[in-house]
Amino acid sequence: LSHLFKWENLHNYKLTPIFSFFQPKKTITPYLLFCVSTAVIGSLQFGYNTGVINAPEEKLRLFFHNVSLERYGEPFSQGSNTMVWSVAVAIFSVGGMAGSFSVGALVDKFGRRKSMLLANILALLGGGLMGLSSLSRSFEMLIIGRLVIGAFCGMSFGTLHQLGVVIGILIAQIFGLESLLGSDLLWPLLLALTILPAVLQSILLPLCPESPRYLLISLNKEEEARKALVRLRGHEDVNDDVQEMKEEGLKMSMEKKVTILELFRSPLYRQPIIIAIILQLSQQLSGINAVFYYSTGIFATAGVTQPIYATIGAGVVNTVFTVVSLFLVERAGRRTLHLIGLAGMAVSALLMTISLALVKTNQALSYMAIVAVFGFVASFEMGPGPIPWFIVAELFSQGPRPAAMAVSGFSNWTANFLVGLGFPKLAEVCGAYVFLIFMVLLIFFFIFTYLRVPETKGRTFDEIAQGFAARAGGKSAAPVSPEAVLVGGSQSQDPAPMS
Ligand code: GLC
Repeated sequence: LSHLFKWENLHNYKLTPIFSFFQPKKTITPYLLFCVSTAVIGSLQFGYNTGVINAPEEKLRLFFHNVSLERYGEPFSQGSNTMVWSVAVAIFSVGGMAGSFSVGALVDKFGRRKSMLLANILALLGGGLMGLSSLSRSFEMLIIGRLVIGAFCGMSFGTLHQLGVVIGILIAQIFGLESLLGSDLLWPLLLALTILPAVLQSILLPLCPESPRYLLISLNKEEEARKALVRLRGHEDVNDDVQEMKEEGLKMSMEKKVTILELFRSPLYRQPIIIAIILQLSQQLSGINAVFYYSTGIFATAGVTQPIYATIGAGVVNTVFTVVSLFLVERAGRRTLHLIGLAGMAVSALLMTISLALVKTNQALSYMAIVAVFGFVASFEMGPGPIPWFIVAELFSQGPRPAAMAVSGFSNWTANFLVGLGFPKLAEVCGAYVFLIFMVLLIFFFIFTYLRVPETKGRTFDEIAQGFAARAGGKSAAPVSPEAVLVGGSQSQDPAPMS
């Protein structure tokens, strides 16, 4: 468990975790685990709503077809149907952009716990709209529901984020089975099911305390923070935690908050922000969500007889490798893992292309398609899946971090949107060769990472900033500038989590 929590510590930079003060070797009580599980429901929801649309593709297309027939007396053309379908999938990311942009302000105003409760209203609304769309014969309701649920997911980053996401995807894939909720009759329920975890989280949240970090650093309420800590840690001696938070608060107050504009203007931040953006793009433009949104269709094209089972298989591989990566990320460097992941994905994309192109001549190649998708997903979780989510916190200290986070979140969701929207059309146009596009992008991201991305594991902000300065000035080592000291602070092996 200690590895898990160390890892969790690294990932804990996002804005909503309530319990972002795990440290290895500190007491992990059942109550603490209970509270973490409550918080991680947000990431589960993110995954659920990413994966949920995959299995019922045919059912939804039929629904659009029927609604058009009832309303206009004729069904949608193939092209229009694909458009409505891909908009319904991808608009989720437009909501995500809005959500990830507004979560900072929401948390500053209401605190972590209340923000999560408020966000759950969006889940009820989104789930309700999607669930009632069939009854109301309205695909618009489905699309608006996906938008709203996307906004909700954009807000709900939290503890153990990537693990929560992948488990959420897997649950959605399993519920998507025709024999469960993926049938013609029950798909609205499949989409509306997201309401349940929202209700569950709303019931559990009042049993959890507000984040001690928020109480202490943002509200300056030391006594209340102590009380919350004592409950969570299960003992009275919480001085270490309090001390650490105070130090973090001090660092935050010493650093000027950097705006998004300054982030791009200042030569100090330009390189790291470009790296942060490209890493986010490498996560999404790798094509991963082409798989998680559309794999059932892809497997069907590849001649797989039970495509939904292959989709679930991809979800299982995804989950297993996320767990593997939890341990690897502690040992190997982030840069190395990212490079391995990108390379593995590029090779898998090539294999997938070969199998899709030749499956008509040799039926056995449909198995190769399955192996290729599994390899694609496994490689993704080695690096490109988890690393972009936490590297921002390692590249930026407290002052520029919120702005860097907003820009990164926005880039991620925009790229997610482009893949979600564009893939069905691209697949129609390019046929078997569609994954070559991702292969080329992956090669580009590999070269970029190789040439530009520094190793951040175990290095201080000062060292990282010096590396950038040296590169910009063409020198091997630059003296630590006063600004670099300001950006630096004292990041250590365990970067201080921001929340
Ligand atoms: C990451 C991505 C998300 C993707 C998931 C797959 O969390 O941000 O878009 O669906 O990984 O595991």
